[in-house]
Amino acid sequence: MRTRRTPSRKARAAQPAARTVELIIEQVGARGDGLARLGDDAVFVPFTVAGDRVLARIEGKRGDGLAATLIEVVEPGPGREVPPCAHFGRCGGCAVQHLDDDTYDEWKTALLTAQLARAGLGGIAVTPLVRIPPASRRRAAFAFQRRKGAALVGFNARASHAVIDIERCPLLEPALAALLPALRAMLAEVVAEGEDGDCVVTLTEGGLDLLVEAEARLDLFDRERLAAFAETADLARLTWRRPGVGFAEPIARRRAAVVCFAGIAVEPPPGAFLQPTRGGELAIAELVLRAVGTAAPLLDLYAGCGSFTVPLALRGRVHAVEGEQAPLLALDAAAHRDGLAITTEVRDLARRPLLAHELKPYKAVVFDPPRAGAAAQCAELAAAGPPLVVAVSCNPTTLARDLRTLVAGGYAVEAITPIDQFPWSPHLEAVTVLKR
Ligand SMILES: C[S@@+](CC[C@H](N)C(=O)[O-])C[C@H]1O[C@@H](n2cnc3c(N)ncnc32)[C@H](O)[C@@H]1O
Repeated sequence: MRTRRTPSRKARAAQPAARTVELIIEQVGARGDGLARLGDDAVFVPFTVAGDRVLARIEGKRGDGLAATLIEVVEPGPGREVPPCAHFGRCGGCAVQHLDDDTYDEWKTALLTAQLARAGLGGIAVTPLVRIPPASRRRAAFAFQRRKGAALVGFNARASHAVIDIERCPLLEPALAALLPALRAMLAEVVAEGEDGDCVVTLTEGGLDLLVEAEARLDLFDRERLAAFAETADLARLTWRRPGVGFAEPIARRRAAVVCFAGIAVEPPPGAFLQPTRGGELAIAELVLRAVGTAAPLLDLYAGCGSFTVPLALRGRVHAVEGEQAPLLALDAAAHRDGLAITTEVRDLARRPLLAHELKPYKAVVFDPPRAGAAAQCAELAAAGPPLVVAVSCNPTTLARDLRTLVAGGYAVEAITPIDQFPWSPHLEAVTVLKR
């Protein structure tokens, strides 16, 4: 059983006393919080912008600095905007809806330039930010909690496991938010009091694809209720998975939950990774295709269901490598059906990166790793990679580290384009073209 520990006297003494202070915000930091100075200490104040004069309450330590909550903006700085979402401030999804367009662009681009500078790559010119508009997120993982006879469905509150029961979200494709009332009613019926879980909803060409991840053990009656829910909510597919259990139980498949890459239909497995917005996927694919040109054969590493493999394969042979088998089976099926020159390989690239003799046949490599980056694979590419490498990344910190490895291996960065497909959050996508 977990017991709550009382902080030791030493730990209590190390915490600064809670007090209210007046601060001038100097800049917005990497997590979206404003940064001010109080004596020798940096103070982080959420929902503020450079130039704000604020009253804030010091709450405790945060890293080497202090964490504060905003009490009042006494005098606003330039660059403020009225946040468009009623949930902003409580919902943990967005950090910076209060910045105007120019201030936001500058902040977002600096997330990348600061990491590049830290990695000793400060001289690299960064292309202007490509903005993906709100209301375009086609995939969302909603958290839910079944409490007091009802189901709360939405996103986790800031720095908390509590669920904010959202009605609308300006980031989502409207069809995703429109499902929420029916989802609440279904979860209140099927899930037991006190349980938590997630609902991953993806808008596909066939309609909404829903994966529920919850502990509930379904009986026949539940399955019938879920099948009826799939019918009334007009879902393409409904799948149920108990956490920690590999098998995802298909409940209903009313239409094929396909997505199209360059016009080729692929049916991803339930909950599979997809670029969060169609606009983002297209922007990345265009940059990848432009960089690669007609080079072939190609390697697509961390290929997922083939967002980039498929458009690349319409030009030449592609070998797609990915850690999970299920997305590659979906890609294989599409390639087989449409006669695409794609081969696939399930492989853990962190433990078993492609080695020099395996990299040798390829004219170019595209890689798109998870947030942890591709350290092991980049070490191999630096030693024996082809003349052209395109790095796609959703994490500027690990991207900068990986680029440093490639540059040390003799590659030069030709272009780096930040793509904002996670608006109002501290996450940023980027496509980097490297040659040697
Ligand atoms: C950011 S996604 C990119 C997927 C694909 N390129 C796309 O755009 O849809 C990263 C992919 O890397 C895969 N992955 C994560 N860790 C991996 C590893 N150690 N080895 C190989 N693939 C891995 C994930 O399963 C996921 O499909």
